[in-house]
Amino acid sequence: MPDLPFSRLGGLNMQSELLRESQSRSPREDSLESSQERLQASAVKDRLPDIVIAPARFARPHEDDIDALAHLANNANIATMVSRMPHPYTVADAADFVRRTKTGTIGKCVYAITKADNGAFLGCCGIEPHPDGKTAELGYWLGEPHWNKGYATEAAQALTDMAFRTHDIDQIDARCRVMNVASRRVIQKCGFQFQGSGMVDSLALGGMMSVEWYRLDRKTWMSLRSWGGLR
Ligand SMILES: CC(C)(COP(=O)(O)OP(=O)(O)OC[C@H]1O[C@@H](n2cnc3c(N)ncnc32)[C@H](O)[C@@H]1OP(=O)(O)O)[C@@H](O)C(=O)NCCC(=O)NCCS
Repeated sequence: MPDLPFSRLGGLNMQSELLRESQSRSPREDSLESSQERLQASAVKDRLPDIVIAPARFARPHEDDIDALAHLANNANIATMVSRMPHPYTVADAADFVRRTKTGTIGKCVYAITKADNGAFLGCCGIEPHPDGKTAELGYWLGEPHWNKGYATEAAQALTDMAFRTHDIDQIDARCRVMNVASRRVIQKCGFQFQGSGMVDSLALGGMMSVEWYRLDRKTWMSLRSWGGLR
């Protein structure tokens, strides 16, 4: 089994890690982070396995993705559905995101969703540990031209399988805005069950947004897999 990065590192909110950390950091924090990044880069490199489930391929974000990432992420219909995506979203934001995913300082298990046949960048997905060591949080977004083609469901199912198969976690959580019909549908198609609702911060909205919280526990996942209800 591959030793994936997220098993070693503390948890942050998945959506925030998929997108961008706090905008304001001190020079000392930057310096500390640079040295940490150098140390972590070699550890992260080659540890994140590519996953190919045609027509999508999930691989570590790459510099080649920056332009498409900036173009697709600069969309209020996406930014207002996730917690910490800045809006507007610039090429510099995209470059910073890719750099941090490469060094392991952002998104310990973040994938670019690309088209398997031509490598076109479509969106991002990732899974992130909670500090309890037993829970991971799933997140994803797709560029708007690529909605409703099944990519998010493929991504969520692939990451869910990978996480349960390679890590000693008991459950995976997912959250979506109450008004986010498409994301709720993705979560439901992956077998997650409603747990409750609450409020989370939204960078793009500049305030709190109401979200629904869903969970898939290991036993349910195993049952669904053996039953064949999912893929
Ligand atoms: C949510 C999101 C990731 C879904 O991605 P996607 O690749 O389009 O998802 P899929 O194609 O796998 O599945 C979408 C499902 O929602 C359904 N759906 C989409 N819009 C819908 C609507 N307005 N009403 C009812 N169902 C809707 C689709 O029909 C599909 O369900 P089906 O397969 O049963 O027909 C994408 O819309 C997105 O990136 N949105 C902005 C960011 C975001 O919300 N991220 C998630 C944060 S929780």
